[in-house]
Amino acid sequence: MKGLDPDRHHAADAWAQDVLAKMTLSEKIGQLNQVSEDSASAALVEAVAAGRVGSVLNVVDPTEIDALQAAAGESRLGIPLLVGRDVVHGFEVMAPIPLGLAATWNPAKVEEFCTLTAAAARSRGINWTFAPMLDVCRDPRWGRIAEGFGEDAWLTSVMAGAFVRGLQASPEESLLACPKHFAGYGASESGLDYNRTYISDIELFNVYFPPFAAAFDAGAMTVMPSFSDVNGQPGAGNQRLLKTFLRDQLGFSGVIVSDWAALAELPIHGVAEDGKEAAQLGLNAGVHIDMMSGLYERFVAELVDEDPENLAQLDALVLEILTVKHLAGLHEPQKKKSMEPAIDALLHSATELASESCVLLTNEGGTLPIMNRSDSLAVIGPLADQREEQLGTWSFDADPEVSVSILEALKARWQGSLMDSAGLSHSRGVDEGGIQEAAGIAAKAAQTVLVLGEEAILSGEAHCRSRLDLPGDQIRLLNAVADAAEKLIVVILAGRPLELADAVDHADAVLFCFHPGSGTGPAVADLLLGDSGPSGRLPVTLPRSVGQVPIYYGRGHTGRPPLQGEVQFLDDIPIGAKQYSTGNTAYHLDVDPSPLFPFGFGKSYTEFHYDQLAVSVAGTGQTLTISIEVSVTNIGDRSGIETVQLYLRDPVARVARPVRELKAFEKVMLAPEESRRVEFKLGIKDLAYHDGRSWFVEPGRFEWFVGSDSTARLSCRMDLDASQIGDEPLGDQTNSY
Ligand code: BGC
Repeated sequence: MKGLDPDRHHAADAWAQDVLAKMTLSEKIGQLNQVSEDSASAALVEAVAAGRVGSVLNVVDPTEIDALQAAAGESRLGIPLLVGRDVVHGFEVMAPIPLGLAATWNPAKVEEFCTLTAAAARSRGINWTFAPMLDVCRDPRWGRIAEGFGEDAWLTSVMAGAFVRGLQASPEESLLACPKHFAGYGASESGLDYNRTYISDIELFNVYFPPFAAAFDAGAMTVMPSFSDVNGQPGAGNQRLLKTFLRDQLGFSGVIVSDWAALAELPIHGVAEDGKEAAQLGLNAGVHIDMMSGLYERFVAELVDEDPENLAQLDALVLEILTVKHLAGLHEPQKKKSMEPAIDALLHSATELASESCVLLTNEGGTLPIMNRSDSLAVIGPLADQREEQLGTWSFDADPEVSVSILEALKARWQGSLMDSAGLSHSRGVDEGGIQEAAGIAAKAAQTVLVLGEEAILSGEAHCRSRLDLPGDQIRLLNAVADAAEKLIVVILAGRPLELADAVDHADAVLFCFHPGSGTGPAVADLLLGDSGPSGRLPVTLPRSVGQVPIYYGRGHTGRPPLQGEVQFLDDIPIGAKQYSTGNTAYHLDVDPSPLFPFGFGKSYTEFHYDQLAVSVAGTGQTLTISIEVSVTNIGDRSGIETVQLYLRDPVARVARPVRELKAFEKVMLAPEESRRVEFKLGIKDLAYHDGRSWFVEPGRFEWFVGSDSTARLSCRMDLDASQIGDEPLGDQTNSY
């Protein structure tokens, strides 16, 4: 296991070898068997006591978990249970959904929250979470975009490391992390869940694998393959993916747990004749734990009987499961932790993250912050007062009582008159007279806050959409309220990027929030009122229209990129025009080719100016150090946090590289007129790319861009010759990120 103290590893291995030597075939198979129940039923207790179950998921009641661990303790060899649950962005207290966590660009705070939330879940007896979800996703139709960290491999990698370190911070109060879904699930065709994917090795290595490598470097000892097929082979039976890539090239040596019943889906995918063959494929691919298909339990004994090679495979898998159990400290008597998780500390941390996750998209004429809180205020919208809907996906353990809505928080802070109306009963609601009432209220107020978006259930697993518009009658509500309101501030709560052109056109300010969790109310209210300043930045591109999807900043250039001002749109084409190659570049006739808002974008209540960009290079090969410095100045009259972003372009390579790649960022707080020199240090690996066979750095020109988002214009150039790169720039290229 990467980065682990060799003594700890040695002790775990010795214990595992010793236990393995004493195990019967049935006990070995039991370790591979994972069962989901919501209670410790008599049948489950009996199966655990008989050594037929090695791990469970979805039991959350501490007493029930204790009963199961007691049964495991009393089993012949006393092997403890792994107890799993999807603790994806919180437990009782929810932080923003992972897409919102990525929008904070604050890995340190994410790590801190993960440590607290791991302790809360561990105090119940849960010791394993199926998180972080590391599927880079460039298609917001996919409901699971909510669960990941967005479109960028590097930002996802940074968050992956923070998440794993946070979850596994303290041995006794931690949750084992399980990065998922290896790999490329986020590329599901048509943004449709469980769908197939076709991904070149170049993309796998440059985009989809790096976040997993970062999670393993941070100490993740388990991993979950994707449901989806990757180039024709479903994750759970994909030897090339799980052996050649995951084990041999990424160096993973921990435990692979299948996704829910994924082995049973192999015959449905069309790669196995029946359940028995599916179990064989799982063994061959090195899948250790069968989550909920029961196929290992049913067929492995038979497979071992037929082929002794299967016994060797089984032993190897069991040994690794036992090793991870020991490394996680489960073999030691579990000290009883306080059953009262630190709710206040969790809520504080979740609210800070919620605040940093909100992205200010527009702010005409300094509409925000609202300066006069003694005036009249209208708070409208189907999501303005929804404690549960703002929590987002995977919030089934959340306590809605600790969640505060936007309306509740504004009421607590507002000193003038405050009127409210939902307008629609929920985000999919149709007008039943509420729109007129809402418009009437807006007409009487000096300021209107309109909270629109998607309910929690419209994103997440199995909740994909073919459209990205505001559901139900929300556009009608928006139009009516915009006509009536003197000043309109639109707040969007959603699980994915949405089409927001209408909101942007009608509102004086738009604040976009990926379901921000339990602290939504205080976080949003403080931002609107200027008690805090917006610092969220988009971890994903916001399209103008769903037809542009996939639209992402790190795309390839094409041989015919569209040039600004030189594209001809549908209405510009003369009636009766004969066949010709309009504009001759890559764009759609009916939409501006740029995104509505680019990756990395987010406004503050102040402005920042960048200048004096300089790059210097020292050393060669492995010791090459690239230093990039820039001055950032707050040129407004309020303090603010800027996220300084550094992008690379490698303009000529043997495989065309993306137009830009994020390589580093730093958040800086600047007082009015304050200037800061920000320095980024990079090495040879930051210049490398994979061509599908190996890692390369090629001599030549590199361009750096620094600024507030992925369209940053301030740039400088760096030329490296072969001697600076050295003969073996990446060392051991088989296993290097
Ligand atoms: C999901 C996984 C999850 C598992 C267990 C599956 O449906 O794809 O992400 O960890 O269920 O809840």
